[in-house]
Amino acid sequence: MKIGFIGFGNMAQALARGLVRGGAVEADAIGACARDRAKLQRNTEPFGFRAFDSSAEVAAFADVVVIAVKPYQVGTVVEPIREALKSKIVVSVAAGVTFDDYERMLAPGTAHLSTCPNTPVAVCEGIVVLERRHSLSDGQLKTVEELFSHVGLVLAVDTPLLGMAGTICGCSPAFVAMFIEALADAAVKHGIPRADAYRMVSQMVVGTGKLQLKTGQHPGAMKDAVCSPGGTTIVGVGELEQRGFRGAVIAAIDAIDAKINKK
Ligand SMILES: NC(=O)c1ccc[n+]([C@@H]2O[C@H](COP(=O)([O-])OP(=O)(O)OC[C@H]3O[C@@H](n4cnc5c(N)ncnc54)[C@H](OP(=O)(O)O)[C@@H]3O)[C@@H](O)[C@H]2O)c1
Repeated sequence: MKIGFIGFGNMAQALARGLVRGGAVEADAIGACARDRAKLQRNTEPFGFRAFDSSAEVAAFADVVVIAVKPYQVGTVVEPIREALKSKIVVSVAAGVTFDDYERMLAPGTAHLSTCPNTPVAVCEGIVVLERRHSLSDGQLKTVEELFSHVGLVLAVDTPLLGMAGTICGCSPAFVAMFIEALADAAVKHGIPRADAYRMVSQMVVGTGKLQLKTGQHPGAMKDAVCSPGGTTIVGVGELEQRGFRGAVIAAIDAIDAKINKK
């Protein structure tokens, strides 16, 4: 199967690398186009991906065409290749561009699915949230789900929740990175070399997440499990509560939601 990216920025590159790293496809089964040809070449050729001059060439090459430009650019890039996309599986990663939008932009009968991946797909530990409403056949949906299963967790949600799922999965890596940085700063403050601090903190985050996924445990129970009575961890938990740690995280999501929905 050949995968073509229209737009080859951060998200598309993360997906392309993850698909190869995860063994879904060989690098030469991935092709892309973008505006800046020299930059595209730098982002494709060293990895064995193919660089195309136009979206029409990408559509001719690929079985699955991934729309990976900024949301406001989707209409412009789709319009000239509407006919070519009729026989393809069109997968969108553009945030907030959903089924109804593509029904308006694409030719009637085109198979399309809107998704929201996050950048950890690059290391096959991502999330790809799918819009439950789509126009793929059962076989085409299976193909796409199988493809994305190589880069992380695949999860379908109803259209009204796609935006929030995208916010949680797409924006939160920034928050987690801030947490990692802060914890590593604390480690450095107490004498741990910085490189070791990043490695141990990041692995702790990975391990805690994996433990929750594997056991399905309530996060509160996981917290309780490391807080012995009169112990040390509970002192830190108390301090975080005092400083509004959980409230701050919830407020961050509320603020993004308010911006997206211009509340
Ligand atoms: N980054 C994330 O974490 C994330 C998460 C979820 C969803 N998304 C979605 O992914 C999409 C891309 O985001 P991004 O962060 O990857 O943006 P980005 O890094 O700015 O990449 C955008 C890409 O689109 C290309 N492009 C612009 N106009 C084009 C045109 N007319 N024809 C072909 N290519 C064109 C750009 O090419 P040039 O660089 O040459 O101009 C660039 O390669 C967005 O819709 C976003 O909502 C991103």
